[in-house]
Amino acid sequence: MKALLLAGGLGTRLRPLTENLAKPMALVGNRPWLEHLIVHLKRQGIVDFVIAVKHYPEMIQQYFGDGQKWGVSIEYAVEKTLLGTAGAIKNAEKLLSDRFLVVNADIINQASLVPLLEFHLQHKGAVTIGLTEVEDPSQYGVVQQNYDGEIVRFVEKPDKHHAPSRRINAGIYVMDKEVLDWIPAEKEVSIERETFPLLIEKNVGVYGKLIDGYWMDMGTQQRYRQVHWDLLDRKFPLPLSQKEQGNGIWIGQETSIGQGVLFVPPVLVGDHVQIGERSVIGPYAVIGDRCQLGKNVRCTETIMWHDCKVRDGAQLKNCIFGYSLELGPRHILYEAVMNRMAKGGQA
Ligand code: GDD
Ligand code: MG
Repeated sequence: MKALLLAGGLGTRLRPLTENLAKPMALVGNRPWLEHLIVHLKRQGIVDFVIAVKHYPEMIQQYFGDGQKWGVSIEYAVEKTLLGTAGAIKNAEKLLSDRFLVVNADIINQASLVPLLEFHLQHKGAVTIGLTEVEDPSQYGVVQQNYDGEIVRFVEKPDKHHAPSRRINAGIYVMDKEVLDWIPAEKEVSIERETFPLLIEKNVGVYGKLIDGYWMDMGTQQRYRQVHWDLLDRKFPLPLSQKEQGNGIWIGQETSIGQGVLFVPPVLVGDHVQIGERSVIGPYAVIGDRCQLGKNVRCTETIMWHDCKVRDGAQLKNCIFGYSLELGPRHILYEAVMNRMAKGGQA
């Protein structure tokens, strides 16, 4: 079965990090999320991928190429104009198999696919939507189901008081190709606002099945941070390439740690990182590869992507820095989310 990864959204709610980056390329635990997603799906037996891209397609294409490095095959469906979630699927039609998986590439999840697929085969619907439950469903697509799991209503981002349930669209679908007959070509179409309601109305068979494991949409700064804190607390058990020292401290290879540096767990430090004397890192810090931190730096509740430079005496709390950010000495930053112009194709 092929997987179609929807990776073309604007990522407006994650700006400025997504100012020069496709949202699913945002780092999670020091790797682009899209890479974690492909690795996870491969572990579940998927080796053929189509990535639907619009913004910064060259960045994704340069990073993944034909997928060989990951032992998978990747094709790209590039949109000239933004086609929306259904339009993007329609645009990829020629590349898709009779039955395929669709994944919103910005959802942080490592669900098992087999139960979802088995459910789809048993119920014989045209589409099975993976579902999860959240406290406040108003930011998501909310479903109402009958006793058999069939979805009888799908409302995208309902008013808090009018949501039919707490069960939401987790952004992962098993889909039969007949669904594409219901989507007009070369038009902007939303699967959530147009196609799912239409399929339900026409009784084509839209089912929902709860998926397992951790789930989060990383699309806002607050949720992006939360994913990292959950990762460090291991509530989200994403495999990490760094070595755990046994106490909630993960350190990469060839790091240089100055005298008197204090790591307050949980902390994740990437490869080739330098940290100057007497700096205090953590709790809740994620430091990207090749970052250089000076002496007496304090860094808590902060995520820093690769190649950042933070000079002596800086104090950072609750910050997120994009690639290669440079900060002068003795800066005090609180809740800063910062990025700089990309050099292009950086990942
Ligand atoms: N190729 C392409 N083209 N991809 C798109 C487009 C487009 O025009 N528009 C959005 N996407 C991609 C985004 O990159 C993202 O991975 C996914 O489709 C969903 O878009 P978002 O903009 O992140 O939607 P959302 O988070 O507000 O809501 C969606 O996800 C929720 C779960 O996280 C909906 O599917 C909700 O129903 C769902 O509950
Ligand atoms: Mg989203």
